[in-house]
Amino acid sequence: MKPSALLLPSLTATLIAFAAGAGAAEADAIVQAWPARQPQRDPAVEARVEATLKTLTLRQKIGQMVQPEIRAITPDEVREYAIGTVLNGGGGWPGQDRAATPAQWRALSDQYQAAAQQATPGVPLLWGTDAVHGHNNVRGATLFPHNIALGATRDADLVRDIGRATARAVRATGVQWAFAPTLAVVQDVRWGRTYESFGVDPALVKRLGQAAVEGLQDGLKDGRGVLATAKHFVGDGGTRRGIDQGVTNTTPEELAQVHGAGYLGALDAGVLTAMASFSSWTDTAAFVQHGKMHGNKTLLTDVLKQRLAFDGLIVSDWDGIAQVPGCTAESCPEAINAGIDVIMVPYQWKTFHANLQRDVEQGRVPLARIDDAVRRILRVKFSMRVPTDVPATMEALQAPELARRAVRESLVLLKHKPGLLPLKAGARVLVVGTAADSLPHQAGGWSITWQGRDTTNADYPQATSLLAALRQRLGAAQVTFDADGSHSDPQKFDAVIAVLAETPYAEGEGDVRLTENLRFSRRQPQDAAVLQRVAGRGAPVVTLLYSGRPLYVNDLANLSDAFVAAWQPGSEGAGLTDVLVAPATGQWPGFTGRLPFPWPAGPCQFSAHETKPWWPVGGGLSGKETRSDTKRLPEPADPAICPL
Ligand code: GLC
Repeated sequence: MKPSALLLPSLTATLIAFAAGAGAAEADAIVQAWPARQPQRDPAVEARVEATLKTLTLRQKIGQMVQPEIRAITPDEVREYAIGTVLNGGGGWPGQDRAATPAQWRALSDQYQAAAQQATPGVPLLWGTDAVHGHNNVRGATLFPHNIALGATRDADLVRDIGRATARAVRATGVQWAFAPTLAVVQDVRWGRTYESFGVDPALVKRLGQAAVEGLQDGLKDGRGVLATAKHFVGDGGTRRGIDQGVTNTTPEELAQVHGAGYLGALDAGVLTAMASFSSWTDTAAFVQHGKMHGNKTLLTDVLKQRLAFDGLIVSDWDGIAQVPGCTAESCPEAINAGIDVIMVPYQWKTFHANLQRDVEQGRVPLARIDDAVRRILRVKFSMRVPTDVPATMEALQAPELARRAVRESLVLLKHKPGLLPLKAGARVLVVGTAADSLPHQAGGWSITWQGRDTTNADYPQATSLLAALRQRLGAAQVTFDADGSHSDPQKFDAVIAVLAETPYAEGEGDVRLTENLRFSRRQPQDAAVLQRVAGRGAPVVTLLYSGRPLYVNDLANLSDAFVAAWQPGSEGAGLTDVLVAPATGQWPGFTGRLPFPWPAGPCQFSAHETKPWWPVGGGLSGKETRSDTKRLPEPADPAICPL
């Protein structure tokens, strides 16, 4: 027999053993990179969980794990399939009516609840929604600035109060679960969800993430708070080139210390749900491609549930299981065995339900895993009061003064000719730029609809645009609006306010593509043209930029005497005039916002760790400086395509 033949089996066995050993060593390194935490369980809740679990059939247990979208399930089907949770996605409203009132939301919730309780007595249904900057799916709700703006405030007390106000709004509609906060620590601002992040500093994300969960879950046992969701676990903000749902390449230590920072804050706040990330992870220390987070048992179970002692439930993202190799939206034993407890399967939930039953019966999903998932779901449900005393009124969805304060604190002044701001109370102002009177642009993504588009001012009856706020503050006669700036003579005014804005976007559609760059004037040429029309024509220009990310604006700042990063202010435009115009009484607050990401000095400065930006993290002027740098910024030609 040839030696090689003898050698082959043992070599193969050795390689397999080595691989397994390496696998075990790598898994251990991944787990050890995270701090060990101790579980804190309520004995009374645990006793109720165990007592209830014993009474449930397999069908009832599976029903607890399946989360359909409200557009795809009726209350009768909730009863028939013993469903334990539903969601509305962005653009999902009761009766598919975007004008549905809080009372109509509450009525549908009550119908789902009654149906669920008939099918599984004593086990309430949970309804989840993306309340990510107020109860943003509901017409009339106050819309707060997005997380990037809250990161600019660095104000944990404010974030906590916003969480409380959001919880009240969500509860008023009979919903008990907010898919918030996003805890991404964004590394490349090309990602279309950069605005859902508090910033690039892990410590800031941890501090504000903790505050957000504390606010959202405050009063959970009294029926006031809502379940918060630590999302998207883990590494969603670190994908290569900021590609949505892409691959994050880090060592286990960086994954834990950078991308995991927010989860430590959320866990300290007692967060009860977490959402798996669409992204994938590659361990660059061990050169192991782990693939989709939805199938990663080491991170979902060994790290989050065991090492970090997370006792709540992990929910998958929207059909996220379908991206796990070998899976579809209708079947994925791998994701459930990896640690997913509630499967967000918006439309194909009936087939999924049947397939999971069969997977258990045929041993592909152990009953012990089902029991662990249902135990977690019951623990969450029994750790809160599902009925609420919050009234189903529009008043419960509104907190305009809090939102106005958030706008004030979030504005970052990047350029300022000393003395220009604040504008005097009697100033005659020319306002240009369609976004100055566009609430969709002022609100950004995740507003009424998923992408924040296909909406009009009529969808925001409670909101105040910047233009309306200026007219209220200065007097209508003092304010002239000329959307494209071509019908006015700026020198007849004391100042021009030019509003430039990104077109609203949410996940996927907001990514800056590889053939694109951060030059705003290239992404929104019509807005840039408006500014070019009014600049240097006898009146100082104050430029406001509504954006979900830092952008390259040297050419536009050079046409401005003041330049403000205003992010997406939300419904309360008066927060802008509070800072732009001198107060009638009291001290001018000036600009207190400071950058949560570096501000680019070039069109290809995508990295959140840019070493030579225009402004670094923490940058920004107060507006009270007697001297500030207003010299012309360089305007190099764009490269044909940014370096990969
Ligand atoms: C989306 C998002 C997630 C959201 C979920 C439900 O795809 O990734 O953040 O909570 O679906 O709308």
